[in-house]
Amino acid sequence: MPRPASLDCVRCGARYPIEHFDRDCPACRNAGTPANLTVGYDGIVGAGIDREHLPRKPAGLWRWGDFLPDLEPVTLGEGATSLLHTPKLGLGEVWVKDESRNPTWSFKDRLATGAISWASRIGATTIASSSSGNAGAAAAAYAASAGIPCIVFTFQGASGVMVTQMRAYGAMLVVVAEKSDRWKLQTAGVRELGWYPTSPFFGPVVGSNPFGIEGYKTIAYEIAEDFAWDVPDWCVLPVCYGDALYGMWKGFEELRRLGWIKRTPRFVAAEVAGSLEAALSAGAAMPADQPRNEPTLATSIGASQGTVQSLDVLRRSNGAAVAIGNDDLIRWAHKLARDEGIWGEPSSVAPFAAIERLRAAGTIKAGERVVALLTASGLKDAGPIEETLPAPPLIEPNLPALLRSLHNVYGYKP
Ligand SMILES: Cc1ncc(COP(=O)(O)O)c(C=O)c1O
Ligand SMILES: [Zn+2]
Repeated sequence: MPRPASLDCVRCGARYPIEHFDRDCPACRNAGTPANLTVGYDGIVGAGIDREHLPRKPAGLWRWGDFLPDLEPVTLGEGATSLLHTPKLGLGEVWVKDESRNPTWSFKDRLATGAISWASRIGATTIASSSSGNAGAAAAAYAASAGIPCIVFTFQGASGVMVTQMRAYGAMLVVVAEKSDRWKLQTAGVRELGWYPTSPFFGPVVGSNPFGIEGYKTIAYEIAEDFAWDVPDWCVLPVCYGDALYGMWKGFEELRRLGWIKRTPRFVAAEVAGSLEAALSAGAAMPADQPRNEPTLATSIGASQGTVQSLDVLRRSNGAAVAIGNDDLIRWAHKLARDEGIWGEPSSVAPFAAIERLRAAGTIKAGERVVALLTASGLKDAGPIEETLPAPPLIEPNLPALLRSLHNVYGYKP
């Protein structure tokens, strides 16, 4: 296992001590382009490993320990998720990397295992997260497994199964009236009391905990191995702060430098606000805040401003960003569930709308192979889909009544 030696700015490459995990790059912040840090190692990760004889154990994410910080993992068996070919979607050669199969039913478990394993190593006494969604649920579960108290800041009106999940795992949930006050309180806890942050907690946001983002590299390793090292042409992700986007890109780059793969896939950010799309076409150094007019159904990726780490990956991989609206989210959530038997959270299906658009524009060419990252289960946010489904009929218990209702409600003909 490689030893983390520094935290390096994703933008300017400046190196900071390993204790700097709760801050961003001061130089880039002063220059008006705040940027996250990423773990630097004391050597080349994966060097000396034979890709044909990778360890089979431990099963899951920590099987890639030779590419991750040398830690005693806090693990719930995350990773090793399925790659499913989905030819019936009519989008050409598309595979779904189904991250809903993780222990808390989202890809955030990869972030949580990385971040909380490091928290455990440094003897953190309290985990702190500002999230009403998948990140908070994952932090709560892994903190429980590590035996470290976890505080989650949420805002008035936040509800649903993910908030229930956090409470079930024993996290101490606190509610503030103003969303922005969550960061104020978390900052005070981190700076004054030494709490360990897993989520962003100051703005403009640069991304999450760098040790957590290391966990996302394993999505790239798993895809590369499943494609027998002949990697897909495109990877398409639902993007908010771009933690997974950056982590996956870094993972592929590491494999490329080892000579295990010939090239890194091109990346697409399926976003809600359109701030990355605008920054790419304007050639901007930093995505601008882009408030939306209509409330999005993709609440997990609802931020109005993208990050420098996302923009960098899209540029370096010659990728693209596509803004997705509610009608497309509903349409693709239905289609994926009905045609392929895969039910994703509304945010998670944004990549399919992006692929459809880029295929139509000729950006993704016929025959090019695409992987879509399905980041979380449909059960995480069932409401928007439920509202669009027909109510099941209450019927008289006889065959003619049954057939009549099946026909009237569902269009069924025996
Ligand atoms: C289901 C889902 N998809 C995608 C994202 C975007 O994550 P990232 O910040 O890595 O871009 C989130 C983030 O909260 C999420 O919950
Ligand atoms: Zn920098």
